[in-house]
Amino acid sequence: MSNKKELLWQSRFSEPFDRDALRFSSSVHVDKALYKEDIQGSTAHVTMLAEEGIIDRDEAELIIRGLQEIETELESGQLVPHWEDEDIHTVIENRLKEKIGATAGKIHSGRSRNDQVATDTRLYLRRQIRALDAALKTMQQTLVSKAETYRETIIFGYTHLQRAQPISAGHYYLAYFNMFRRDRQRLQDLLKRVNISPLGAAAFAGSTLPLNPKRSAELLDFDDVFSNSIDAVSDRDIIIEFISACSMIMMHLSRFSEDLILWSSYEFGYLEISDAFATGSSLMPQKKNADIAELVRGKTGRVYGSLITMLTIMKGLPLSYNRDMQEDKPPLFDSAESTIDSVTIFTKLLDHTTLREERLAKLTTEDLSLATEIAEYLVRKQLPFRDAHRVTGKIVTFSIATGKTLPKISLDEYKTFSELFDSDIYDALKPEASIKAKQTHGSCSFLSVERQIAEAKFLI
Ligand code: ARG
Repeated sequence: MSNKKELLWQSRFSEPFDRDALRFSSSVHVDKALYKEDIQGSTAHVTMLAEEGIIDRDEAELIIRGLQEIETELESGQLVPHWEDEDIHTVIENRLKEKIGATAGKIHSGRSRNDQVATDTRLYLRRQIRALDAALKTMQQTLVSKAETYRETIIFGYTHLQRAQPISAGHYYLAYFNMFRRDRQRLQDLLKRVNISPLGAAAFAGSTLPLNPKRSAELLDFDDVFSNSIDAVSDRDIIIEFISACSMIMMHLSRFSEDLILWSSYEFGYLEISDAFATGSSLMPQKKNADIAELVRGKTGRVYGSLITMLTIMKGLPLSYNRDMQEDKPPLFDSAESTIDSVTIFTKLLDHTTLREERLAKLTTEDLSLATEIAEYLVRKQLPFRDAHRVTGKIVTFSIATGKTLPKISLDEYKTFSELFDSDIYDALKPEASIKAKQTHGSCSFLSVERQIAEAKFLI
C-alpha cells in the first residue's frame, strides 16, 4: 500500500513512497522530542534569511508567528505528531503549510534537513549538558554536606573489599566529590565542541544563496560556526563524546551504588536507608532492599550499550550524511535521560541514608585494620619498614590464634615480638589517633578532610 501524504523530497518521484517503507523509516516517535530545538533553529534561520534579503521581512514574520503557534500546539498536545510525516522537521513544516500556505516553503531556503537535524542535535546536547551539570553540582553539594556531617565518623577503608585502614567517613564521600568534579570538567570541555553551529552547511556543500551562517550561529547563541560544511553535517563525535561522558558518570554512580548496597546489607550494617527510599519483598517480610541503587547500577549497562551503538553506527560511514545517522537519537536521548535521572535520584537517595555510627565505632575499635598502625609505629622507632611488616604480620597471626584484639594484647606480649614496643603502642591503636596522625597531603586525617571540604566548597 502506498502513502497518501506528500513528503518533503518527493517531487522527482512518480510513485508515492510505500507505506511500510515509510513506517520503517519514520523517526517521528523519537525525534518529536526535538520540537523546541527545531523551532528555535528554524526561527534563527528565517530571521537570517530576512536580514540578508533572501526572503521578505513580512514573510519571515508570518513564518515565525506560525512557528510560535505550532510550538504552543505541540506543547499543549493540540497537535499530535503523526508517524506518516516522516520526522519532526516535516511535521512542523507541513503544519506551517496548513497555517500560512505556500510561504511556508520558504523556511527551507538554503537549508537541508541535514544541517537542520545537526543544529537541533547540538541545541539538544547543549541543553542536556547544562541540565546534567546542574544535577552533578547538586550531587557535589550533598557530598560536601555528608563529609561535614561525618567528618569525625570513623569507617573502614577497603582494598580488595577487605577491611584495610580506618578512615574519616568524610574522606570517603569526598572521593566521590572528586570523581564527579572530573565528570563536570569533561562536560564543560565537551560543551566547547558542541556549541558550534552547523546551520548554513545545507545538504553538505553549502549554498549558492547569500546565507550568513555566522549570523544564524549568533542568533542561536552558539560560540562559533562550522568551518567545513561536509564535517558540519557528518559529525556525530559530540554524541559519542557525550555518551562516553555519561558512561563515566554512570560508572562512578554504579560503584557508589555497589558500596551502598553492600553497606546497607545485614552483613555490613554500616548504613541505614530510610524507609522512603527502600523497598520490601512481596514474599519475605523481613527484606529491606536498596532497589534504587540497584536500578542505577543496572542503567549503567544501558548507557554503555548506547555508547557501543553509536560507535558502531558511525563506523565505516562514507562522508557525508547517511540515513544511518538517524539512529543516533534513541541512544542519545536514552543516555541523557538515564544519566540525568540517575544522578538526580541518587542524590536524593544519599540524603536518605545515615551511617550507623555506634556500630561503626565498635567495629573499628576492635579490628585488625589497625595493623598498619603497628607497622608505622615500629618505623617511627627506626625499624626498616620490611621488618616492621614482618613483625606486625606475626602479631596479626597471634591475634587471630588467641582471639585477642590488637588493643587487648598485653605490652609483655608485644615485647615478645619486638623490644621496640612501649606503652605508647596503645595510643597508636586508637582509630581516631591513627587517623589524626596521618600527615600527608590529601590523606584521611580529620584536618585534611576539613581542608578538602573548604576547597570543595570553593570549587563547586
Ligand atoms: N530524520 C533525519 C535524521 O534524523 C533527518 C535528515 C534527513 N536527511 C536526509 N537526507 N534524508 O537524520
